[in-house]
Amino acid sequence: MATSKQLRLLTDNAIALDVRQGLTASPKYLPSKLFYDEAGSQLFEQITELPEYYLSRTERSILEQYAGEILANAGPSLTLVELGAGTAAKTCILIEELLLRQSRVLFYPIDVSPSALEQAVRQLGRQFPCLRVNPIVGDYTGGVPALSRITGRKLVLYIGSSIGNFEPPQAIRLLRRIRQTLRSGDALLLGADFAKSPKILVPAYDDAQGVTAAFNKNILARLNRELEADFDVDAFRHIALWNRRGSRMEIYLESMTAQTAFLPALDLDVAFERGERMHTENSYKYTDAMIESILRESGFTLEQTWCDRKRWFGLHLARV
Ligand code: AVJ
Repeated sequence: MATSKQLRLLTDNAIALDVRQGLTASPKYLPSKLFYDEAGSQLFEQITELPEYYLSRTERSILEQYAGEILANAGPSLTLVELGAGTAAKTCILIEELLLRQSRVLFYPIDVSPSALEQAVRQLGRQFPCLRVNPIVGDYTGGVPALSRITGRKLVLYIGSSIGNFEPPQAIRLLRRIRQTLRSGDALLLGADFAKSPKILVPAYDDAQGVTAAFNKNILARLNRELEADFDVDAFRHIALWNRRGSRMEIYLESMTAQTAFLPALDLDVAFERGERMHTENSYKYTDAMIESILRESGFTLEQTWCDRKRWFGLHLARV
């Protein structure tokens, strides 16, 4: 019988079902969305500044170089929408350029984190007094019906390589749902990481300072905090592998000893063998053909791609 405390932990906790499912599966896994509690979001911010993690600064440099062209291609009188906006740190580059072209700009950042959105509203308000920001707190992965109600031409931003966490069929399903909220003339700007040498990819996901390792292990620390679990976080190590056939980086936590963790909130014992790997993330790396294909299959037409000189990262403009 579960105690009332266990029941409270269970019903209070949106993550409990996902965690039970992953930890009782074989092989074990934990969903990567669990990375992003407050501590995890801070660690991710740190990752974006690592020398090895080229993604954020490369995408930023593409935006800096091509913001004007991107907006010219997207069309006149745009309303901006951003999926998984977070603090919208890179979006200000597009907003600044858009404000040169139109006197009034409306921006709808969508994110699950109210605190990130608050920060975005505060920062953008200070930087751009003429910008109207309408934050939407919510999970965009099931599509965003509210987008259909926005009048005027939309440019939907889905940048930062967030698409890379989805299996291709899931990515197509998500893009299709986004596509359904758009009208003819609207556009999508998709930021995705290109497939490249594992000599570049592996260090980007296993940095010398161990920030990515801490980010990965934070998922266990989070279960200790939120589900009162007793994972020995230091008895796991961070693994990052390039899967060439799958065109993805795979992230695992490997148990360095035979050990058992107890999750009172789930009334669950989880035994690990020495060397057992628990999958925590896939990060897909796209070829041009893969981008073309997921966009086409979700009802978009790829119109143009902008990338850096090394072709490490791409911004893809797709049309309904
Ligand atoms: C936030 C999904 C874009 O896949 O590069 C960074 C997450 N994981 N280091 C990525 C991540 C490990 C990141 N995304």
